[in-house]
Amino acid sequence: MTRQLITSALPYINGIKHLGNMVGSMLPADVYARYLRRRGHEVLYICATDEHGTPAELAAQEAGLPVAEFCARAHEQQRAVYEGFRLTFDHFGRSSSAQNREITQQIARELHANGFVEKRSVRQVYSVADGRFLPDRYIVGTCPYCGYDRARGDQCENCTRVLDPTDLLEPRSAISGSTDLEVRETEHLFLLQSALTGEVERWLADRAGGWPVLASSIARKWLAEGLQDRSITRDLEWGVPVPADVWPELAAEGKVFYVWFDAPIEYIGATKEWADAAPTGEVRDWKSWWYEADDTVRYTQFMAKDNVPFHTVMFPATLLGSRRPWKKVDHVKAFNWLTYYGGKFSTSQQVGIFTDTALELLPADYWRWFLMAHAPESDDSSFTWDLFAAVVNKDLADTFGNFVNRVLSFSRKRFGGEVPAGGTPGDAERRLGARAAELLAEYEAHLDALNFRKAVQSLRALWSAGNSYLDEKAPWLQVRTDPEGAALTLRTAMNLMFLHAVVSEPFVPTASRAVREAFALADDAPARTQTWVDAEQAGALELVPAGTPFTVPPVLFAKVADEDLAAWSARFGGGPERATGSTPLG
Ligand code: 2FM
Ligand code: ZN
Repeated sequence: MTRQLITSALPYINGIKHLGNMVGSMLPADVYARYLRRRGHEVLYICATDEHGTPAELAAQEAGLPVAEFCARAHEQQRAVYEGFRLTFDHFGRSSSAQNREITQQIARELHANGFVEKRSVRQVYSVADGRFLPDRYIVGTCPYCGYDRARGDQCENCTRVLDPTDLLEPRSAISGSTDLEVRETEHLFLLQSALTGEVERWLADRAGGWPVLASSIARKWLAEGLQDRSITRDLEWGVPVPADVWPELAAEGKVFYVWFDAPIEYIGATKEWADAAPTGEVRDWKSWWYEADDTVRYTQFMAKDNVPFHTVMFPATLLGSRRPWKKVDHVKAFNWLTYYGGKFSTSQQVGIFTDTALELLPADYWRWFLMAHAPESDDSSFTWDLFAAVVNKDLADTFGNFVNRVLSFSRKRFGGEVPAGGTPGDAERRLGARAAELLAEYEAHLDALNFRKAVQSLRALWSAGNSYLDEKAPWLQVRTDPEGAALTLRTAMNLMFLHAVVSEPFVPTASRAVREAFALADDAPARTQTWVDAEQAGALELVPAGTPFTVPPVLFAKVADEDLAAWSARFGGGPERATGSTPLG
């Protein structure tokens, strides 16, 4: 048993996220957190809204609200959606918290004291009409690489190139549209990453061997290109202020830290928020997770691939440069893009399916299963309504749900509302037990290795084993000539079903719970409170004793009907006209 720290990339505050964001960070992190908790580990799963930077200020401006108020409302909206998705954060914080401000400022002071932060004079775009500098997304123009005419100052959404605002052709202010722009001299803080390159390389060499290729190759590529010193401050109203004790003149000018400086630090900040929110009488030691915690905590991060450089190079450089024993990531799980019919999901262009709308159509388990079954692990994967309907109908309705309803309804009809006893298990039961133990072991190995699609395949096979067993034993025929044999079949099937319920919880928590609760296990039945099943128990298929009362739950998963499929495809669009390339931004 270990202490497991899990974080998923912090969603920007600027709007409800789409399914692509969900599957690339929060959902797999939740599946993993649930799995580890069930296996008895002490888990701390931390996430938060990423509230600073130009995305927040621009979204607030569009909503006509002061930034602080916009962020408070938007945080609450996102929190409610994640609760609907049954995400089990131990804490869902806010990067604008006092805790994050304090820790970010302290780390900046330490970096400065250790010679890794330097004040430099830079040339920046200034809007005369707006009376301010225009950092990052506050400036738009034509991308010098691909000609896209709405490229933002920090990155081109079309070709994904990282840009500097001064690179843009025909630049204009995103606030007023004004083209009355000048380049003016101003001072900013720079993190001297070049001086930390060797240390980051050595740190990465120790760790990245075990990471999935996607994460380790991106990290190595960035290092191979050499680390550039990076500006870590901005001229914005909303953000973590530069501490006045160290840089009084920058503080007086109202400079704040760059969003990518304080956002990863919020993993720590949110842990302190969690500790500070402890109910009276409960002591939560946030430092034990982050400070001098190297050997006692295993830290896994989840993110989409565009976030990898920040997490594997820049954030570690920040922590190393602070010369404090901060915990650094042990394992990075990165994802490719989920596309919508081969094109990009986009928040800004409202393409694809948003997490709040998804929950209006169907409960969380449907989405959780589909998304994890098609998680873009080794490559991009594409959402289409046909695929979604096929997966829901086959896996959830026909395989998982149908087994439950078929077995319980039939057993109740023939043998009443208690698990029937039946005779002694025979060859078919032994084979089923052996298969269940084997599939469970496979499933665990895939989850331990964070291979979610493979884990889904093993779990699906474990579900299917139930239907194959029923087809083989055909209790509806057995009952006519051999009621004892039919009772044994049904009891065995119910035990497999209970096993399904226990181990499927990380993916489909609501249905799993409904199946478990269908059995009124006696208070002293071991399986009543059991969170996982070991291989021996899986093989024995004896979790639910004969005589246990049960109820038949309502249909667990409804099929997606042809009318729904047609209506949803029409409402959200689909098909080739959507395919506009597969970039992730927005
Ligand atoms: O790409 C994004 O959505 C960022 N908001 C992720 C931040 S992750 C962490 F560093 F905060
Ligand atoms: Zn471009």
